[in-house]
Amino acid sequence: MQLRTLIGGAAVAAIAAAAVLGGLYAWTRAAPIAPADAAPPPPSAAVLAAGARVVALGDCMVCHTAGDGPAYAGGLGLRTPFGTIYSTNITPDPETGIGRWTLPAFRRALREGTSRDGHLLYPAFPYIHYTRMSDNDIELAYRYLMTRTPVHAPAPANDLLFPLNFRPVLAFWNMLYLRPGTSDTPASQATPIERGRYLVDTLGHCASCHSGLNLMGGERSPAFQGGRIDGWNAPALTRLAAADAPWTQADLVEYLRGGLALGHGAAKGPMRPVTERLASVPREDVEAIAAYLMSIQVAPQSQPAAAPAVKPAAAIVPGDRAGETLFAAACAGCHAAPAPMMRLADRPGLARSSAVLSGDPANFVQTVLQGIPWDNTSTVYMPPFADTLDDKQVAQLAAYVRTGLAARPAWDDVAATSAKLRKENQP
Ligand code: HEC
Ligand code: HEC
Ligand code: HEC
Repeated sequence: MQLRTLIGGAAVAAIAAAAVLGGLYAWTRAAPIAPADAAPPPPSAAVLAAGARVVALGDCMVCHTAGDGPAYAGGLGLRTPFGTIYSTNITPDPETGIGRWTLPAFRRALREGTSRDGHLLYPAFPYIHYTRMSDNDIELAYRYLMTRTPVHAPAPANDLLFPLNFRPVLAFWNMLYLRPGTSDTPASQATPIERGRYLVDTLGHCASCHSGLNLMGGERSPAFQGGRIDGWNAPALTRLAAADAPWTQADLVEYLRGGLALGHGAAKGPMRPVTERLASVPREDVEAIAAYLMSIQVAPQSQPAAAPAVKPAAAIVPGDRAGETLFAAACAGCHAAPAPMMRLADRPGLARSSAVLSGDPANFVQTVLQGIPWDNTSTVYMPPFADTLDDKQVAQLAAYVRTGLAARPAWDDVAATSAKLRKENQP
């Protein structure tokens, strides 16, 4: 073969490759939307209140606020199996926030996961759910956020594995998992169940934790069969009525609005911020969520599950004794039947809580290690024990609570679970 043809062939191949890459790049990058020249006019008090409700239902603050940092200024690291993604600044700061975003740019971000300048956003931002928000709710959220205090805060660089640190690959992900909503097909919200479905599937993005993720980071279907988030189990939402301690609609309203349902326990870990936000929205929204959840329950078994029996102390097997002693020293002051906390609100005790009745010890272990931090929406507080109890002691407590108090078969390998979660909980 002549040298000229060879060079010619190589050039053709290079041009073809460049065309493919260029095409790919063009395909994965949307056009920028021009920045706004002027801020939108200040909204009325009614629009502001309605916007606050949408933003609370959408949990926007939870992800867009880092620890004690300024609200909506971003910088919270979200850990995924592919690395850490940092939330961005959605205050109206003109340089580092959304201060110069128009409503169409904001709408495109929520509906298509595309930033104002055209780059694709990571699905750690749950746009696959927000995509079906109504135009009205999108505008309300925009108007509300544009009135927050602007904060100058550039987002930290993400720490992601190749090839996911290359944003264009997200175009393939979107092909698989994004079903874009449009202005023309807003979900009906006419009945409480329809309103609840909209709140759960769209703003509440409940499936992002409660469905579990597949290897591609897409949500498993069918939805709501239970998932794992930050070392906690997010239980299935379709078996609440068939659970060992069955949930009623009223229990769900109590839990989702107050972070505590007396017959089931408290919202903990990643669920806690969800209930904190739901505490601020009108009760009818939470009632709608509960009504929808009740409508997706699998039929309870024909034999109703017996209420978990509380074993008298004398029936505790000898292996639990170490745990029983620890419990008396560290936990009984709050959790034993005669403790003031138990008497005050007539709490049924740990034996009926999902964390103890679950077949998996993760939520029990996480509760003991992390405790339940104070928040402004309830009086629930439990201190963390990560620094005072070692993994063996956590396992002894688990054996006592699970087999002694709740009369359930012992969990396996609690000490190993505790060691693993302790490590994962490190910042
Ligand atoms: C589960 C966490 C999470 C929640 C909840 C969340 N976001 Fe985000 N959001 C993110 C992350 C992470 C990014 C950055 C993604 C990236 O850089 O690719 C982001 C990016 C954005 C962007 C794009 C900003 C930019 O500069 O490109 C907008 C706009 C936005 N979010 C608005 C919202 C609104 C409005 C809500 C509530 C309705 C919300 N987010 C709720 C995690 C979240
Ligand atoms: C200062 C009081 C206090 C102490 C001490 C305490 N807890 Fe708690 N714990 C709470 C509160 C409050 C809750 C939330 C549930 C409630 O209010 O009924 C809770 C919840 C729990 C739960 C989850 C139940 C649920 O809500 O689903 C477990 C498990 C638990 N505690 C275990 C322990 C163990 C084990 C110890 C001892 C190592 C302990 N607690 C010590 C106050 C306490
Ligand atoms: C960020 C992840 C996350 C999101 C989003 C989330 N949840 Fe949860 N949820 C959890 C985790 C983790 C638990 C277990 C925590 C516990 O037991 O304290 C939980 C517990 C629950 C429970 C109690 C279940 C049981 O069997 O004890 C209900 C009910 C619930 N969530 C409903 C919802 C609804 C409705 C939404 C949407 C509005 C939602 N969750 C959004 C993570 C999440």
